[in-house]
Amino acid sequence: MSRTKHQQVLVTGGAGYIGSHACKALAHAGYTPVTLDNLVYGHRWAVRWGPLVAGDIADRACLDALIERHRPTAVLHFAAYAYVGESVQDPGKYYRNNVAGTLTLLEALRDHGIPHLIFSSTCATYGVPEQIPIDEQHPQHPINPYGASKLMIERMLADFDTAHGLKSIALRYFNAAGADPNAEIGEAHDPETHLIPLVLDAAAGRRPAITIFGDDYPTPDGTCIRDYIHVTDLAQAHVRALQALEQGADSTRYNLGNGHGFSVREVIDQAARVTGRPIPVERGPRRPGDPPRLIGDATRIRRDLGWQPQSADLETILHTAWRWHQRAS
Ligand SMILES: NC(=O)c1ccc[n+]([C@@H]2O[C@H](COP(=O)([O-])OP(=O)(O)OC[C@H]3O[C@@H](n4cnc5c(N)ncnc54)[C@H](O)[C@@H]3O)[C@@H](O)[C@H]2O)c1
Repeated sequence: MSRTKHQQVLVTGGAGYIGSHACKALAHAGYTPVTLDNLVYGHRWAVRWGPLVAGDIADRACLDALIERHRPTAVLHFAAYAYVGESVQDPGKYYRNNVAGTLTLLEALRDHGIPHLIFSSTCATYGVPEQIPIDEQHPQHPINPYGASKLMIERMLADFDTAHGLKSIALRYFNAAGADPNAEIGEAHDPETHLIPLVLDAAAGRRPAITIFGDDYPTPDGTCIRDYIHVTDLAQAHVRALQALEQGADSTRYNLGNGHGFSVREVIDQAARVTGRPIPVERGPRRPGDPPRLIGDATRIRRDLGWQPQSADLETILHTAWRWHQRAS
């Protein structure tokens, strides 16, 4: 399909953290992002590169009206609930919003003949790693309803391709981090559960200390190691994936990580250097279901789509996050 300058792309969850960065990347690539967000966790201020439709992916009438008005040619699907702990306490909330909501969306795409979708999947679909780094062949045995809901959606996408020819790319993110380099948008979850904004809150004095959950893991400094990927690198991968589908690529799934990890302790130490502030630390117990290491192998997306992370170093991730954090405070 040849792309016209004003091609519209539906971005569900485009008022959220990663979705808003993807909207900016889409706009820079010549698309018009049309955000559909119910604003349960999203922010009106984060929708700056195209129109906002305040509505829910589970609302079929809203979807039909949006599609008829804007005629999007593809969808970037970020809308979901993503609190792992909450999903264990209230699984129905996750299956209803993430799985049933996505089913309504997919049926609307089927009925309107929208052929392409990029899906926000997650490393949580793999469960406890059997080997590190984790590649796309790794077995998928999620250990919480959040991960299970995302795996169910991957399965639905495969079935919608077989039955209806809907082509999709599932991007399994590791830990999204950092902020727009111009600090126009950034991470603003409420409640916040991600390590880097919590560490920066401690640096800014907005919380008394950062808690390290377990410092006796079998890692060099005893704290958990995670793969942090800069949100603008994630956003860029979505544009590449969309263009690949437009050029005829088949449905597939890719890991999105940097291929190396940083420990909780390394993040805290580097944050102290970047902010120039002391970061008080408290020790807490290990959390159930936290593996010592989670590192993704993103060789396939590099090879197939030529995607290259531009901001893989921890200093850049923290520097952009800190600039945003100061601006947002
Ligand atoms: N942040 C990460 O590190 C990470 C890692 C792996 C996967 N993901 C996935 O990436 C996506 C975006 O994550 P995020 O960190 O930007 O989260 P976020 O909460 O900032 O963004 C999600 C957005 O979706 C909206 N939303 C939720 N349910 C909706 C519904 N039914 N209808 C319309 N809008 C709805 C929310 O209001 C919010 O704006 C999610 O699907 C998440 O599961 C995130």
